[in-house]
Amino acid sequence: CRDRHYKFNVVLKNISRLCGTKPIVTVNKQFPGPTLYAREGDRVLVKVVNHVKYNLSIHWHGIRQLRTGWADGPAYITQCPIQPGQSYVYNFTLTGQRGTLWWHAHILWLRATVHGAIVILPKLGVPYPFPKPHNEAVVILGEWWKSDVEAVINEALKSGLAPNVSDAHTINGHPGPLTKCSSKSPAQGGFTLQVEAGKTYMLRVINAALNEELFFKVAGHELTVVEVDATYTKPFKTSSVLIAPGQTTNILLKADQGSGKYLMAASTFMDSPIAIDNATATAMVHYSGTLGTSAVTLTKPPPKNATRVANNFTASLRSLNSKKYPAKVPLKIDHSLFFTVGLGINPCSTCSNGSRVVAAINNVSFVMPTTALLQAHYFNISGVFTTDFPGNPPIKFNYTGTPKNLQTMTGTRLYRLAYNSTVQLVLQDTGVITPENHPVHLHGFNFFVVGKGLGNFNSNKDSKNFNLVDPVERNTVGVPSGGWTAIRFRADNPGVWFMHCHLEVHTTWGLKMAFVVNNGKGPKESLLPPPSDLPTC
Ligand code: C2O
Repeated sequence: CRDRHYKFNVVLKNISRLCGTKPIVTVNKQFPGPTLYAREGDRVLVKVVNHVKYNLSIHWHGIRQLRTGWADGPAYITQCPIQPGQSYVYNFTLTGQRGTLWWHAHILWLRATVHGAIVILPKLGVPYPFPKPHNEAVVILGEWWKSDVEAVINEALKSGLAPNVSDAHTINGHPGPLTKCSSKSPAQGGFTLQVEAGKTYMLRVINAALNEELFFKVAGHELTVVEVDATYTKPFKTSSVLIAPGQTTNILLKADQGSGKYLMAASTFMDSPIAIDNATATAMVHYSGTLGTSAVTLTKPPPKNATRVANNFTASLRSLNSKKYPAKVPLKIDHSLFFTVGLGINPCSTCSNGSRVVAAINNVSFVMPTTALLQAHYFNISGVFTTDFPGNPPIKFNYTGTPKNLQTMTGTRLYRLAYNSTVQLVLQDTGVITPENHPVHLHGFNFFVVGKGLGNFNSNKDSKNFNLVDPVERNTVGVPSGGWTAIRFRADNPGVWFMHCHLEVHTTWGLKMAFVVNNGKGPKESLLPPPSDLPTC
């Protein structure tokens, strides 16, 4: 094991897309940002220097951060932001994890352009549990707005209405070769994967989009899923991969077509009536020896509202659960929680609309504190948060019917867990306003997805069908529109851990809360003291 040092200079850079140029916030002038490479067991030290006018923080999405919550990154949750002109060294060790994760800004909407891949290789000499691919590539899916992204959300917050959707989807930062940005000009550039016939490639696919769940396809090729969220899965073949913001999926692509050019495509999974198809992002698979002028084999995206394709995909995900990589599903449960997730409408005297769209968990719209919660917890500062987050919905809903009460409560309420206690959490979509698939992300833990269904969760009936043998293990899971998802995890990581919808607009509206996990008995069960350069508020 060794130390990996990185320096992230956060700077503005002019980027041209869709026939226009605008300055965006980047890391080291790269968009998407640099890939962070390390091996399981390594210590990673990233010095982040803030050269822009925004407050900043960076989250290492999916990294467990065992006892190092100070390096997790969500602003005002585990740290105060890095102010303009300041820097902070994120220092953490990669314990028991290998695979594809990613990093992104965790403040305002900066993650639209401040993001990149994390590739954790297995320990030296440890093979993948599948044949070693000939080569591999990072494939980051994203979104592009023609206007300034911070202006988009600020406008929305002023009016109280929903923000504008993006103008294009992107693959590795580009809308792709098939996108026309005006009637005359083709879009600039795009990603090409060069392949040799007969060889197998591993794509490390990351959905970094702010607000869009996406399908990923490659024309003429079947894809084999081998890993999600840096946990190995039982390999399975599919033509479309469903991937929600926050999630990562490793796919094997066998170049079995001999020659030619084939399109890669990322298109919207539209299960929400307000989602707008802002075009399919494309990239190219190019067999070596194929002439540049030869025709491209196109792919048809799954139909809109392709709920059946989506459900088949998620139902096929199973953890590998081998001798070497056992699924340690908690069987005895200490905390049985039931959280509703959904939207609401609250009065707003300062909004031009007179009311504003909000989002909530158990009818509580989370209010961001002005001091970091982890500091308040560690130093026992009172008045920053309460620990009375409801373990069950305070209002009785027919979760899939028309709601009687659209108004939510507000508060900085946390739920307290004892060290090493076990949690079962059922997340139920309330279908308030519009039913939408909510990709819920939990910081600090992986969890097992033990069940999923449509309609209202029925504890007696549905818990009998839970998969406690080989459920998929991940850090971000879709709660189906008008349905529920049940997860289990062990609270073996002391600190304050954020949980939120990874659709950025829903996070902004309040679909978030945090767990506080107490220290255990020994020093190995306790949070480490804060680093000396931890930013202050
Ligand atoms: Cu990738 Cu709290 O987020």
